[in-house]
Amino acid sequence: MTDQERIGAVRAGIRRAIDLDPRAPLPPGDPDLEARIREEIQRVGPMTFARFMELALYDPAGGYYTLPDARDRGPGRRGDFLTAPEGHPIFGWAIARHLEALWDALGRPARFVVREHGAGTGALAAGILDGLGRSATPLAGAIRYQAIDAAPDRLEALRERLAAAGLDAALETATDRPEAGAILANELLDALPVHRVEGGRDGRILERFVTIAPNDGLRERTGPPSTPALQERLDVENIRLEPGQVAEVCLALDGWLAGAAATLERGELLLIDYGHPAAELYRPDRGSRLRAYHRHRVHADPFAAIGRQDLTAHVDLTAVERAAGRAGLEPLGRTTQAQFLQRLGIGELLVGLQSLPATSLESYLEAKSALVRMLDPRATGGFAVVAFGRGFPATFRIA
Ligand SMILES: C[S@@+](CC[C@H](N)C(=O)[O-])C[C@H]1O[C@@H](n2cnc3c(N)ncnc32)[C@H](O)[C@@H]1O
Repeated sequence: MTDQERIGAVRAGIRRAIDLDPRAPLPPGDPDLEARIREEIQRVGPMTFARFMELALYDPAGGYYTLPDARDRGPGRRGDFLTAPEGHPIFGWAIARHLEALWDALGRPARFVVREHGAGTGALAAGILDGLGRSATPLAGAIRYQAIDAAPDRLEALRERLAAAGLDAALETATDRPEAGAILANELLDALPVHRVEGGRDGRILERFVTIAPNDGLRERTGPPSTPALQERLDVENIRLEPGQVAEVCLALDGWLAGAAATLERGELLLIDYGHPAAELYRPDRGSRLRAYHRHRVHADPFAAIGRQDLTAHVDLTAVERAAGRAGLEPLGRTTQAQFLQRLGIGELLVGLQSLPATSLESYLEAKSALVRMLDPRATGGFAVVAFGRGFPATFRIA
């Protein structure tokens, strides 16, 4: 396989891009899923937004993430949004450099397990494994890659993608066994279900519940919170919402983080996502950070195209840091994606690509423009990178 072909295979999905109109109308929602949501509301009463989001994204028979056709949904130019690893494998090549430094800090264990949560169709896995091969590091012989995703269809696509690029030798079925290595998640936490709340007049919050509108559609209405954990989360973060200020609270991240950390014997948990510390996220002028994505169109109506559009909310990094501490992990720093990639020498990787005889001007320019988006603070360059560790020298930090 030539270098061009290898990059093409690693980037499967983006090469066959079609032009998508970001103003294209939204499709109707999945009628069966909508009927199930309505039936549950009629049976048990107004639903928390977190429950609605869980059904809209993860319902086994109609959820956005669980439906077949993974290649046409979710990340990718043919899909609904473009993540950094989908942009170009150079992102994974840089992460491979980071993993090599981590492997060194851990004393080069013979078995180094990378568990990627929300691995999707394998853009990051392919970039990392390709990067290790390119740099001819001995880590390539020690790494075992375990991909985890809510959608079995995506894991199938991931396996095919790695096999097509000749990168599947290190792939293993994921287990929960504590191992030495790294846990990675790029753009996963923003997909976890969130509760929606609103500042009340007495300084306490109200919760926004999903209910049925007179026209049979769905709408929100406020009521006392379904759980004291919502007010407790904001209190512990010293956040007081202004009357009428709408915000999202992700209680699910505590469970996710505890579960992921329990599988890390020693090593690092590395998270990349759009998020802010609580004081910034809940600033009154920011408002709700819930967004819906369909075919590269971004809007804020969660009740359009139910089951056909992605729903996401910006991540509360203060809550992530607290949950990691409770899971027994040490903070290893927080930075932006742009700074993280620059420190890993992503510019050098681009120069290296340019100097390969097999690199055409077109493919170099494609890599360069993908890199610009990865570093641009208005694109994914402003994403937060946070790392936590267990059981290795405290000198290893990401920032
Ligand atoms: C926004 S996509 C990101 C995909 C990939 N990490 C990337 O950067 O291209 C989110 C992925 O996470 C998966 N996912 C969502 N919730 C999950 C969960 N609770 N556990 C594992 N995977 C999940 C989805 O199926 C989807 O493939």
